Amino acid sequence: MDADAMIAVFMREQERGVELADAATNLEELEAARTAVLGRKAPFAEAQKQLGSLGEDERRRVGQVANEARRALQATFDDRRAAFEAQAEDALLASDGVDLSLPGRRPRPGSLHPLTLVEHEVVDTFVRLGFRVVEGPEIEDDWHNFQALNIPPDHPARTMKDSLYVAIPGHPELLLRTETSAAQIRTMQAQQPPIYIVSPGRVYRRETSDATHLAVFHQVECLVVDDGITFADLKGTLEVMARSLFGANRRVRLGPAYFPFVEPGAEVGVSCFRCDGVGCRVCGNGWIELLGAGMVHPQVLENCGYDSERYTGFAFGMGIERVAMLKYGIPDMRMLLEGDVRFLRQFQGVA
Ligand code: DAH
Repeated sequence: MDADAMIAVFMREQERGVELADAATNLEELEAARTAVLGRKAPFAEAQKQLGSLGEDERRRVGQVANEARRALQATFDDRRAAFEAQAEDALLASDGVDLSLPGRRPRPGSLHPLTLVEHEVVDTFVRLGFRVVEGPEIEDDWHNFQALNIPPDHPARTMKDSLYVAIPGHPELLLRTETSAAQIRTMQAQQPPIYIVSPGRVYRRETSDATHLAVFHQVECLVVDDGITFADLKGTLEVMARSLFGANRRVRLGPAYFPFVEPGAEVGVSCFRCDGVGCRVCGNGWIELLGAGMVHPQVLENCGYDSERYTGFAFGMGIERVAMLKYGIPDMRMLLEGDVRFLRQFQGVA
């Protein structure tokens, strides 16, 4: 092959290479075309191999042509490859992309449980009156839960409550507290009067659950001990609470009742917030029985080391579940435990 024939091959192959590169529709076709034009056995390489047969001047001249043609071809294939790769990336981005114009998924904010709402409301009322909040242990001993509250071992008041004992070696007579009243005893043991406290918390009873009873429920206990505390103070305090919970027009009535740790003891009713005492579906006869109360029994004061000749006090204990049912019209106490979101969502934004 003479120099001109070689140059002709190089020029032809360059042209053919550009055509093939243009015609390729994907990376594989492009690679095949590149091998066909620039491969070791392609006409281009075959012609190049014969450069050695030319004289020195010719070889330099033709070699230069060959190099330029090869470089141009290489550039053509590189450009084409880059174009295919960019295309593939675009396609991937398009299929994998995040559509920022889609509406977001709204996070579901939680809300306070109705029992917590009521507990806060009661506690806040008393904190505004200057009371302190104390919490007692849920596992109590027999003395704090019963004996100090004037409920000796053979007392019939135990019968309905005292079955949930806890077996811990070395600690006889431990039980899940049956009422928050035990917190009264712990408070009095820890300090001297004046005492103005509220104590919310969980209590346990031997009880079969039904629409108005639970074996685990909540109470708020209140205790006041000071110089010259009277039954009128109790009634006034109850009125403040009833009005704060159920509306400014509520009236409070007290009827005789027996609790071993108070004397006299009282059952406290509040005029119905729905019918204002007329009688309706919520209350029946116009009054809602809400809680137990009374003047702290002198023996209880003495049990805690107080001088019952000097100090008097009042106490009451109220079930939180019952208040929640009344306030929010909840028909079954067990709904408070079920954790059904459809139920709980209704209390969003209540407080
Ligand atoms: N502890 C009583 C109960 O669970 C409620 C109660 C009644 C508490 C009278 C008191 C009280 O402090 O004076 O049924």
